[in-house]
Parts: sequence; structure tokens; C-alpha cells
Amino acid sequence: MSFALAPRSAAPQRLVDAAALYARVGGHIPKFEWDSFADDAAAIERLKIERDAIVLAHNYQTPEIYHGVADIVGDSLALAREAGKTSASVIVMAGVHFMAETAKILNPDKTVLIPDARAGCSLAESITAADVRALKAQYPGVPVVTYVNTSAEVKAETDVCCTSGNAKKVVETVVREWGVNRVIMIPDKYLAANIGRETGIEMITWDGACEVHERFTPQDIAEYRDAMPGVVVLAHPECPPEVVAAADYSGSTAGIADYISGRKPKKAVLITECSMADNIAALNPETEFLRPCNLCPHMKRITLNGIRRSLETLTTEVLVDPAIAARARQAVERMLAI
Ligand code: 13P
Ligand code: SF4
Repeated sequence: MSFALAPRSAAPQRLVDAAALYARVGGHIPKFEWDSFADDAAAIERLKIERDAIVLAHNYQTPEIYHGVADIVGDSLALAREAGKTSASVIVMAGVHFMAETAKILNPDKTVLIPDARAGCSLAESITAADVRALKAQYPGVPVVTYVNTSAEVKAETDVCCTSGNAKKVVETVVREWGVNRVIMIPDKYLAANIGRETGIEMITWDGACEVHERFTPQDIAEYRDAMPGVVVLAHPECPPEVVAAADYSGSTAGIADYISGRKPKKAVLITECSMADNIAALNPETEFLRPCNLCPHMKRITLNGIRRSLETLTTEVLVDPAIAARARQAVERMLAI
């Protein structure tokens, strides 16, 4: 598995030592590049101990965060699970706002920080709670499966959440348990179409899309195959269905990482955000990566210096109205139980 680092408690004192810190990232980041990060990284390690804090980082975070200071790295599902399990008093989410909100929903009594509150998501911004209420009125009795890439208010209107890592399982479970043959799956029209195609279940969806993944085309994939004959193409399910159909595998960011570490393809191209290949390349030296990608501007708002400031000042704290959080928690916990 490539997504879990050693727990923070393994040797916290050693990690404030500059040489030990570099050893942790060595192989992933050249020394001359690391020198500009070393100060912030050492401060973060000290602050984590002082504040009893943990840093959770999404797979799209840059290598100095992902390999340098994260205690847990993973896809949205792994981060939600780990947020639910941690005993730390403070959680710093190196990811986007909905991920921090999910951590807060699962930990109402902990301090959850996001280093840059502007780190949003085009999917989360595409839909409101009022939109979901209108859909439920239009399709009474149809279960609502909501992607975690949404606000707490939207989750509160939801029967069960899903991530790209468990969407198929969640939809199949809901259909079986509710005895229905269609679901409202929001807000990503492409994820809904991809899961609908895979399961044969009818999807009522929403006109949302990920601004990063919707830019890939089947033509891009044909060009990658021409440029690197024999390349294995792995696409995130937020890509349009014709892109997923042209790929060899589709899965969450953790699914993609596991495919590479488990199957060790000679050549691979990841149809997803840029940092993904950067983060897993050094862990998988037997695979040669073609590196086209699209940047997520929201994920890239999180920096090492921003994480340091967040821990120094305990900002920006993510707060969720307790009544909304209680309803949203039910939908997230139903997902985690599945
Ligand atoms: P994963 O759950 O696959 O990590 O995806 C989250 C995300 O925002 C992808 O764009
Ligand atoms: Fe949202 Fe897309 Fe960025 Fe993921 S990559 S956080 S879905 S905008």
C-alpha cells in the first residue's frame, strides 16, 4: 500500500532533527530544493508536538508536504477514516475545504484547521442544500447519494455519502437495501455516469464537474498511447465517461497508487492532478511515468509555510453548525459503515 506513512508517534523527537527530516524525504526531493523547505518542516514537527496536532494530506499535495510533514496521506476516503480515528487534539487538513469540514463533522470536539480557507472545489461549489431539497421534492423516495466533495449543508440533506473509492459499493448497497432501481447521485455528472455505466443502475444527477478532470479528452489518451507505446492509462472517475472508457483502469487516487505499486507496470500515465505522479514516482522506480497532468488550483493553495502558520496561529479553524454537523455526520458515518 502506498498511502499510509508511519504514524506520527513513531519517533517525533527524531523528526525535529534536520538530518532525520531530510532522510524522510530523500529520494523524493533533491537536497538543494529541500533546503528552502527545511526550516518550515522542522518548525511544523516541533509545533505538532507542542499542539498535539496531526497533519492529514491528500494525495494531490506537493511532495514536500506529502513526504515531508504529513502523518497520514491518502484519498478522500482514507482521510475521512483517519480523521475519525485520531486521538490528536488538533487536525491540520492539507487538502481542500470539504475535506477539513468532513474531519470536523467527524470530530466536533477537536480543533480542525485549514491552512488556506480559500482552498475550495468546483464540485462543492456547484450545488447548494436548496438544490438538493428541490431534487428530493422532484424525485420522492429516491435515495440521495452525495459525493464527499460537497459542503456540510449539502451532506446534511443526504442519505449517504460516497467517495470515488467506494462509490460503486455505496450505490449498489443503497439500491439493494432500499429496494429501488435508481438513485440521485450528486453533484458530479461524470462520476454518476461512470458508476451508472459500471453498475447498470439509473442515475439522476447534477450538472457539476471537477475543473481539473473534465479537461482531459479521449484524444489526449490516444496521443499518450502514441507517444509511449505499451503505456498503461489510469484515469480518475471524475473524468468524462469517454475518457474513462479509453483508459485501462479507473479508480480513486488511492486506487491508482495501489494499482501502480501492486501491478508494477513498466510504463504508466495518470489521468489526474499533477502532484499524484510526483508523489508516487520515487516509490515505484520500476515504472516509467509519462507526466501530463492538470493542476488543481485549490489544492495548490496549501503550502508548507501555510501549514506552519496555521499551527503557529491555530487558524483558520473550520467550524460547522452543530445541528448541520449532526445530520451530515449520519450520511458520512453510513458511508464509513459500508
Ligand atoms: P480521491 O478521493 O480519489 O482522492 O479524489 C478526491 C478529489 O478531489 C479528486 O479530484
Ligand atoms: Fe475539487 Fe477537482 Fe480539485 Fe479535486 S481536483 S479538489 S474535485 S477541483
